[in-house]
Amino acid sequence: MNKQSDTLTKGQQLIPNGMLDDNAPRNMWWCAAHVDEITEEPLARWLLEKPVVLYRLSDGTPVALDDRCPHRWAPLSEGEVKNDQIVCPYHGMEFGADGMCSKVPTQKSIPKSAKVQSYPLRTSGAFVWIWMGDPEAIDHEPVEMGFTTDPGWSVITGYMEVAANWVLIRENVLDLTHIAFLHSNTFQQDDWENPPEVSMQGDTIVYEQDFPPSPLSPLFCAAFGFEDKKIVKREQRGWMPSLAVSFSDWNIHDLDAGPDKRRDFIGRGAHIVTPGERGKTHYFFVASFDSPNAPVEILEKTKAGVISAFNEDKDLLQKIQARIMKDPRGLDFPEINLGADGAGVAVRRVLKRKLDAERGN
Ligand code: FES
Ligand SMILES: [Fe+2]
Repeated sequence: MNKQSDTLTKGQQLIPNGMLDDNAPRNMWWCAAHVDEITEEPLARWLLEKPVVLYRLSDGTPVALDDRCPHRWAPLSEGEVKNDQIVCPYHGMEFGADGMCSKVPTQKSIPKSAKVQSYPLRTSGAFVWIWMGDPEAIDHEPVEMGFTTDPGWSVITGYMEVAANWVLIRENVLDLTHIAFLHSNTFQQDDWENPPEVSMQGDTIVYEQDFPPSPLSPLFCAAFGFEDKKIVKREQRGWMPSLAVSFSDWNIHDLDAGPDKRRDFIGRGAHIVTPGERGKTHYFFVASFDSPNAPVEILEKTKAGVISAFNEDKDLLQKIQARIMKDPRGLDFPEINLGADGAGVAVRRVLKRKLDAERGN
C-alpha cells in the first residue's frame, strides 16, 4: 500500500449522519439533466431535496425554476410553456425565466411577492448543470465534459435513480476493487486485487494503477473492436474533480497490433451523481470510447452490459441504505477502512471541508 492511502485510511466515519441527513453542498454545479431531456415540455425533477421544473425557451435557453406555484403551490411542471412563460395549471398565473410573475389572469396588478426561485444553469458536454446555492458564490464553471459531444468519440449515456445517498455511489465508483466480486459475472475483470495509488492533485482525487497483460472485460471488447477477452495491457486512472462527477479511464494497449495498426485506446467512464429527494440519487453515467462512429448495435449491446453491471451496484447500495435507515443503530455501527478505501475516504474529506465552509463550522 502506498503512503498516501495509508494516511487517508486513518480515522473513523468523517461525516456523522452523512447518509441520513441532507449532506449535499449547495455552492457547486450539480447535474440537472441530460441535454436532450430538457425541451419546451416542462420536466419535473427533485434536485437537492427541492422540486424543480426544467424547460427551454424558444431560443433554446434552458430554465430551472422552483416547481411550486407561490399561489396555492400547484406544480408548475403540470402546466405548459407559452410564449416563453410557464403557465400554472391551477389558476393560470404566468412566470418568466427569471421566476417573476408576468400575468395574473383574474386581476391587473401583480403582487410583488409573486415569484419563484430561478436557478442558474450551464451546459457542459451532454449535460446541463444547476447551481442551487448562493448565485453570488459562483466562482467556477461546471466540469469540462467536451468528450461526451466530441464526434471523435463513440459515447453511451444512461440514467438510473438509486434509492441511496449519493455518497454511497461516489465511494462505490472510486473503489473499483469491488469489480472482482460484485461484478464477477458482468465485468469479469477479476485482476483488481491490490488497491490503486491515491493522491490529491489540488482538490482533485486521483487514483492510478497499472495492470500486466490480462483478458479485457468482455463488456468493452466489442466497442474497442477486439475479440472477447482479448489479452491487453491496461492502466486504470480515475479522477474526481468535483463531488458531482468522477471519471474512470481504461487506457488499453493492444500488444498484438502490427506496425501500422492502432495500439493505444481509451475507454472513459463518467459517473455523475445528483442528490434528489431525501435518500435518493440521480445517477447519470457515460461509457465512451476514443474512436468515432462505433456501430449502433455494438453501442447498444455495450450499454445493455453496462446497465446490467450498474444494476448490481444499485441493488447492493439500496440494500446498504435500507439497513442504515431501518436499523435503530443507524450510523452508530462500527465501520472500518481498508487500504483500498483511500479514494473513498478522500471523498469524505473533500465533502466535509466543503460542508464546513458552507455551514460556517
Ligand atoms: S396555484 Fe398557481 S395560479 Fe393558483
Ligand atoms: Fe460497480
